[in-house]
Amino acid sequence: MTENQTNMKKNLKTIDLVLLGLGAVVGTGIFVITGTAANQYAGPGLVFSFMIAGLVIILIGLCYAELSSRLPLAGGPYAYMLAIAGKRVAWIAGWFTIWEYLLASASVASGWSGYLNGFLISLGIPLPTMFQASYNREAGTYIDLIAISMTLLVTWIVSQEAKKALRLNNALFFLKFIIIALFILVGLFYINPENWTPIIPYGLSGVTTGATLVFFAFLGFDSISMSAEEVENPQKSLPRGILIAIGISTLLYILVTIVLTGIVPYTDLGVKDPVAFALRYVDQNLIAAVVSVGAILTLLTVLIAMLYGLARLLYAMSKGKLLPNYLNHLNEKTGTPQRATWAAGLIAALFSGLIPLQSLAELTNLVTLVVMMMLAIGLIFLRKQRGEPVAGQFRVPWVPFIPIVTVLITGYLILQLSTLTWILFGICFLAGIVIYFAYTKNIKSEQTM
Ligand code: ALA
Repeated sequence: MTENQTNMKKNLKTIDLVLLGLGAVVGTGIFVITGTAANQYAGPGLVFSFMIAGLVIILIGLCYAELSSRLPLAGGPYAYMLAIAGKRVAWIAGWFTIWEYLLASASVASGWSGYLNGFLISLGIPLPTMFQASYNREAGTYIDLIAISMTLLVTWIVSQEAKKALRLNNALFFLKFIIIALFILVGLFYINPENWTPIIPYGLSGVTTGATLVFFAFLGFDSISMSAEEVENPQKSLPRGILIAIGISTLLYILVTIVLTGIVPYTDLGVKDPVAFALRYVDQNLIAAVVSVGAILTLLTVLIAMLYGLARLLYAMSKGKLLPNYLNHLNEKTGTPQRATWAAGLIAALFSGLIPLQSLAELTNLVTLVVMMMLAIGLIFLRKQRGEPVAGQFRVPWVPFIPIVTVLITGYLILQLSTLTWILFGICFLAGIVIYFAYTKNIKSEQTM
């Protein structure tokens, strides 16, 4: 793959990218995970957790912005590492990014299914128990039918023309923005400052563990860089899109958390739908129902953006001969990588139907943090190989200081994750190595290093 080679339609602008980024970012994290994180780890200090996670994302977003501006390639981390460090390192980055997107898509579908199942139960028309969630013998559940169906539906949407998928994403994004604004505006009137004390009931370690958990809420901004080949002016639009999307989401999360923990004592927040719950808590039942339905509808946008990014990653990796050539194919009519989209969607659907949300989310965070560390180190190497960015390209200030700080903070967050998550990560890493050597044995002569 060369850096200028592209067959995709170039019709995306900065605004499309910002909406794509926010569509991918604002979702399960803020609508679902905030409740558990405040209740079990951070208390009202969750706002500090969001600040820490936001700071890490801003640092990594800066590195991403320079990489995407200097190497405007579809495929994100995989493509950047291919240009900087060759196929082996690129494979590892790509492999973990595939997992990031697969697991995140599955997590979102699974969280969404929790909302919808709850809604169906409240209407008195529940699905048979065995189809309500992934396998759990004690609870009598075997497979999450709603998560699987939703993932397949979204796969079909994303397999259509990029612009069409993003247009739906944009429409739903505005709905999401409206319900969040509604929550903040109505909630402001019900804040009881006493709920903010004690501010960090579980101490500083609770705040950092909370940060590791709510880090999930920021995932997805990198899907912007996956669309590089479809962007009109990638050198300017990609970094702008990334940084604007991160800035807006950080601000939204901080506001929502301040209001949420101001309305409800953190001890009562251990619920699946904290944002709607808070409104019911202060008897705003109608607005709570609107927010619930809105959240159910708009979590779709996260899945659209995740699967969109994943499909383009699979396509880019197959183009670089690191995945079967079957995936290296664009549909003639729509100009989209349909085969890669269906491959991504089918696997994500399977995961969402079979694996519990908690395991999915924790592993998602770990693989993502590892990829981000690789990218920060990659940026230092890029500067060594190609020097400073030229005019018109995005430039990270204070290199290598910023990338090094990024690596240290991400490393610290990684160490907060559980042993089980590390074991699963080890298995996933070994599987990647086996597949790499098994698959690439025929193309060794083409390797760049
Ligand atoms: N950031 C995305 C979400 O919170 C993955 O749903």
